[in-house]
Amino acid sequence: MEVVIQPTAEALAPLAADAVEHLLAARPDAVLGLATGSSPLAVYDELVRRHQAGRISFARARAFMLDEYVGLPADHPERYRNVIDRDFAARVDFAPGAVRGPDGSAADLRAACADYEAAIAAAGGVDLQILGIGTDGHIAFNEPGSSLASRTRIKTLTAQTRRDNARFFGGDPGAVPRHCLTQGLATIMSARHLVLLAAGTSKAEAVHHLVEGAVSAMWPATIMQHHPHATVLLDDAAASRLQLAGYFRQVYEAKPDWQRL
Ligand code: F6R
Repeated sequence: MEVVIQPTAEALAPLAADAVEHLLAARPDAVLGLATGSSPLAVYDELVRRHQAGRISFARARAFMLDEYVGLPADHPERYRNVIDRDFAARVDFAPGAVRGPDGSAADLRAACADYEAAIAAAGGVDLQILGIGTDGHIAFNEPGSSLASRTRIKTLTAQTRRDNARFFGGDPGAVPRHCLTQGLATIMSARHLVLLAAGTSKAEAVHHLVEGAVSAMWPATIMQHHPHATVLLDDAAASRLQLAGYFRQVYEAKPDWQRL
């Protein structure tokens, strides 16, 4: 796991965007994994800027979202499919149908999960997965206690996550759906490169466990310690509980330019 610590949250997005730009330069038909939530927003803005500047095209790329609420109407502004269109997909040149998410309004949710796993496999798997982390250590919506071997399935959101996400639902945790469909931890681990962004002190405890804790379903993101190519991008605040912060800074300062993330 490579841990990169920057003084500000603003410094993180260009690093993640660089990784996406290099990937698409090498493989224009790459498969991206997209998170929703606040953490990747600046990355998407940076990718849009680079697209508008003619540096990146998504015309041959495909993308898979991490998760979706169950039961939100198709036109609900917080349905993740709509959020990702608004924040990113509709602002660049993805081909129609190239961005997919789990179908949280399917009549048969279990079949929708199986279909989603099959679609990711048929696309050849995800090349680069962008991730955020919940204050309780979730990635996608794999809440504490999730099987480390899990695949896309239905999950119940914790009260903590519903409180954290209430800001998108008029401040009312009760308005946040109880259930979601989410890629499992094993699904995420199948992606070839994981790039997680975290900023702010509210993420410091989860980041401490992610990087320095024991691998455990209690802190689901810790499974990333087993990934051969995981990059964790942190601002100083999110890194504030890391015992090895000084060492991670030294490593990054000494990193050869050619190595990239
Ligand atoms: C959303 C997702 C979640 C978020 C996490 C952090 O697709 O997968 O795991 O990444 O809840 O959310 P933010 O970035 O809003 O703090």
